[in-house]
Amino acid sequence: MAITTCVFDAYGTLFDVAGAARFAAAEPGQQALAAIWPQLAEDWRRKQLEYTWLRAITGQHCDFRQVTADGLDWAMEAQGIANPDLRARLMALYDTLPAYPEVPAILKTLKSQGFATAILSNGSPDMLASATTSAGITDQLDAVLSVESVGIFKPSARVYELVGQHFGTAPDQVLFVSSNGWDVCSAAGFGFTTAWVNRAGLPLDRLPAQPAHILSDLNKIPQIAGAA
Ligand code: LAC
Repeated sequence: MAITTCVFDAYGTLFDVAGAARFAAAEPGQQALAAIWPQLAEDWRRKQLEYTWLRAITGQHCDFRQVTADGLDWAMEAQGIANPDLRARLMALYDTLPAYPEVPAILKTLKSQGFATAILSNGSPDMLASATTSAGITDQLDAVLSVESVGIFKPSARVYELVGQHFGTAPDQVLFVSSNGWDVCSAAGFGFTTAWVNRAGLPLDRLPAQPAHILSDLNKIPQIAGAA
């Protein structure tokens, strides 16, 4: 069936998760952070995601703000940083992460082509509301779907099912776009048409299903959605 609905992962796909540490490192008095922020950002993201998977597997759900804080605490301790003000600043910056430059125009193009657009994210509704408002993309989204309504993180199928429940779509009417290899492979296994935005040039994840399209940014999404 033809694609009717384009659904985007949020963090790493629409929003640059390294932005918080990068911004903080450029602020006055943060010379120590300036030297190590890329490693801090990488550890923070990796631990945040590991905690989502572990909490999903063990049935110990909490919201994404909690795993984001827990991941940051691990990453700061790994760098030997004990600084409550910096921790608070980094958490606040996570609510206003920068969108990748092409995001507003791509969403606008999809809307003008008649596609429904949505976010499907681990993020809690308040985090996603802050991020979409800060990026100025709220008006270009028909829905912002959060795992909080099912109480389990991706890649549980219950999360991917939220799209059909909201839009009344069959999986093959959905183009699901994620920069996270594990997310896009899981979504492909669920039955969505998928595009992996491989911004970092990483190898494909070795998982049972593979993405239909591999891109380096979002620019070709309208073309793919129209041709599928
Ligand atoms: C999300 C994470 C996986 O937005 O990036 O769901």
